[in-house]
Amino acid sequence: MKKIKIIETAFRDAHQSLLATRMRTRDMLPIAGEMDKVGYFSMEVWGGATFDTCIRYLNEDPWERLRQLKEEIKKTKLQMLLRGQNLVGYKHYPDDIVRKFVEKSYENGIDVFRIFDALNDIRNMEYAIKVASEQDAHVQGVISYTVSPYHTLEKFVEFARELEALGCDSVAIKDMAGLISPHDTYELIKTLKEETNLIINLHCHCTSGMTPMSYYAACEAGVDLLDTAISPLSWGASQPPTESMVAALQGTPYDTELDLKLLTHIKKYFEELREKYSGILDPISEKVDTEVLIYQIPGGMLSNFVSQLKVQNALDKYEEVLEEVPKVRKDLGYPPLVTPTSQIVGIQAVMNVLGGERYKNVSKEVKDYLKGLYGRPPAPVNEEVRKKIIGDEVPITVRPADLLGPQYEKCKEEGEKLGIIKKEEDILTYALYPAVAPKFLKGEAEEESLIPPKSVEESSEPAGVPIEYAVDVDGEVFNVKVLPVGYMEIESAGNTQTPSGPVEGGVTSTMQGMILKLKVKKGDKVDDGDVVAVLEAMKMENDIHAPGSGTVSDIFIEEGDTVNAGDTLMVIK
Ligand code: CO
Repeated sequence: MKKIKIIETAFRDAHQSLLATRMRTRDMLPIAGEMDKVGYFSMEVWGGATFDTCIRYLNEDPWERLRQLKEEIKKTKLQMLLRGQNLVGYKHYPDDIVRKFVEKSYENGIDVFRIFDALNDIRNMEYAIKVASEQDAHVQGVISYTVSPYHTLEKFVEFARELEALGCDSVAIKDMAGLISPHDTYELIKTLKEETNLIINLHCHCTSGMTPMSYYAACEAGVDLLDTAISPLSWGASQPPTESMVAALQGTPYDTELDLKLLTHIKKYFEELREKYSGILDPISEKVDTEVLIYQIPGGMLSNFVSQLKVQNALDKYEEVLEEVPKVRKDLGYPPLVTPTSQIVGIQAVMNVLGGERYKNVSKEVKDYLKGLYGRPPAPVNEEVRKKIIGDEVPITVRPADLLGPQYEKCKEEGEKLGIIKKEEDILTYALYPAVAPKFLKGEAEEESLIPPKSVEESSEPAGVPIEYAVDVDGEVFNVKVLPVGYMEIESAGNTQTPSGPVEGGVTSTMQGMILKLKVKKGDKVDDGDVVAVLEAMKMENDIHAPGSGTVSDIFIEEGDTVNAGDTLMVIK
């Protein structure tokens, strides 16, 4: 009899998908020992967005969390999600950082490394796979699943074979939005079982509503591992419920043989925990969203579009943005929508609609993508679009990380100079998050409150007071400030207020965001199209161009300022 094994995602993907990754370690530890008795294949507890969230919002040391979980969970393997060469960050790191990070993760308790790349570019995965294989760890290669004319069964199988050749112990099909249908699941898993000797794992989110059926089809096709979440943290944008899957498979050839009574006891704990975190439970992420089947946009991204468009005062453009996403994705060669490509495609779609012209405003990330700096797009990109954006520049053909020199020693030196390094792991925290880590490592970070942030409509705050709230983009969490129109947040006494209303020769911002760089000063001469400032919106960098030639006669912004769509940033006469 074939026993299906279960991977429990409560401590990583489930709360990343439903609770903006905000679960505290102190809420995990009391139940961790009980969960250790269940007999899961592994528990996914680390990586993905958990690292970032710990230092950014929870004032928790992610390394300490891992060590504490390891003390409570003695029998069950601990698993992490690693974004290949991006580790737990959003960009490519050099190999020396990748090596140190994987080694330290193993040393602190990780037994299973689940390694993926958003573009399924194996070159971005092989070094992490190599280092993880050198440890005594289970190495899992991931196929980021998506639906496109280029993502055929043959391509997926070929990719799985390459992962097998690199020495992966298992392969996971990572279906971020629950796009895989039961029939396609059956075909894919059956073929993978026939064509490789790998252990096969299916990881799906419930967004489309098809997932429990696909899981059963996977069982019939010979799947070995299924990812589920304890029921209070399941469904919606999360995984199918553990107890239901266990019950559904009982008495079949796929019986998990897990104890439903013990799971129910654990479930009660999570029921209370869900209540405690109810304020940050995103109602959109709880629902089945069948629009994903048409637009392929994961749930977290949909809710983000709503918040983004609200901030930009353009909620009426919602449908237009939804329709733009598949077009941008096609232009970019059909990348699967997972961090960071989901953000890159999503924000570009918003910019294409709000800018009134496609690719009039382009984020730095889209430029980098077209230059090959994220890796090889799965399919050819739209040459016309590429030409418009990067001109005659020739995209790189090497592995992006090949262009990066070693950085570990440099980060170590810098960190020591800042006086923030108490242990080796701190160097890695600093290397990955140089902007956020110093505050945290100095002990100056504060834990965010669990009280729900107010939404704009519900707010009883007087007009003119900025409201901060968190937005979830495919599981990554961003802080967004909502500012009433015409209001400009003043960060320091020296800042000036931007004029409301149109100004002749005024350079306006098309998006709400933060001024990252100011490239001109008063009196500077500029030409039509020159970059005068760089605006950061949702972690994407966007150039702001001079609308005409002239002299900068007034500047109303400073670096670090938050601006609204339509704000006048400077005047060129
Ligand atoms: Co997932």
